Amino acid sequence: RMAMSTSESAIPAEEQARLVETSKRLAAYQAVKDHLLPEYTRVGIGSGSTVIYVVEAIAALGAAATRAMTFYPTGAQSEELIEAAGLTLQAINKLPAGAQLDVAFDGADEVDDDLNLIKGGGACLWQEKIVATSAKQFVCVADFRKLSPRLGTSWKKGIPIEVLPMAAPRVLDELKRIGSHNPRVRPGLPGKAGAIVTDNGMWIIDAPFTPLLLPKDGESGIQAGNGDNGVWTVDALADHLIKIPGVAEIGLFYGSNGLQAASGAQKPVAAYF
Ligand code: 5RP
Repeated sequence: RMAMSTSESAIPAEEQARLVETSKRLAAYQAVKDHLLPEYTRVGIGSGSTVIYVVEAIAALGAAATRAMTFYPTGAQSEELIEAAGLTLQAINKLPAGAQLDVAFDGADEVDDDLNLIKGGGACLWQEKIVATSAKQFVCVADFRKLSPRLGTSWKKGIPIEVLPMAAPRVLDELKRIGSHNPRVRPGLPGKAGAIVTDNGMWIIDAPFTPLLLPKDGESGIQAGNGDNGVWTVDALADHLIKIPGVAEIGLFYGSNGLQAASGAQKPVAAYF
């Protein structure tokens, strides 16, 4: 894990933006150097602005290094990135049953001390989770702003939740009941009326919660984290959200993981900042 910290407020906006881009780029090149081994053949590529640098770092290895590799996207943006870099593209449904990706790289909106993630700021969370859990190793690449002790500390927009449009009002009701502060359907991109529509024809609800506790908080007796007073642990909230009728997928990537716990793992084995 590479750490970087800075007092952002003292730095002019233009310089801050440059720092952020440099941080994304450094993290991406390091992650690719450490986790894209020459013998790998199947690689997952996530979505967002940081992943642009991941693809740049992979392309910089040269055609000979990547000729035997196939790249699996997490949505339309990711597909375009792979194709524009001249890499071989394949849809995740073409990955044979029983097979796994060697590694998947993706960004995050926030990363906590246990490497639980909030994802879905770019509305691609459903396919991102399918690709991440199809990989033997999932590597998160993020700039220094994304790291925080508890999810919901820096990413204030809320946990992205992909829902069937017809279920949105009912899901909003349940989110309010369990303590979300002002959950709302994400609007369309500038110039587009109505709700944002995902690559899967769904809507996104952004649901802010009080920052989510980690298991260690419960062990030290700070709070139960079972939803009392709207306070949740990551795992308890995720387990509840995914069961709400009409919810297709949630932007919490959580749960046990490890280098050997490959299939079905949602949390990254490593995060680069
Ligand atoms: C998209 C995602 C992205 O990985 C996340 O929003 C981070 O994006 P960026 O790298 O642009 O900050 O989850 O659904």
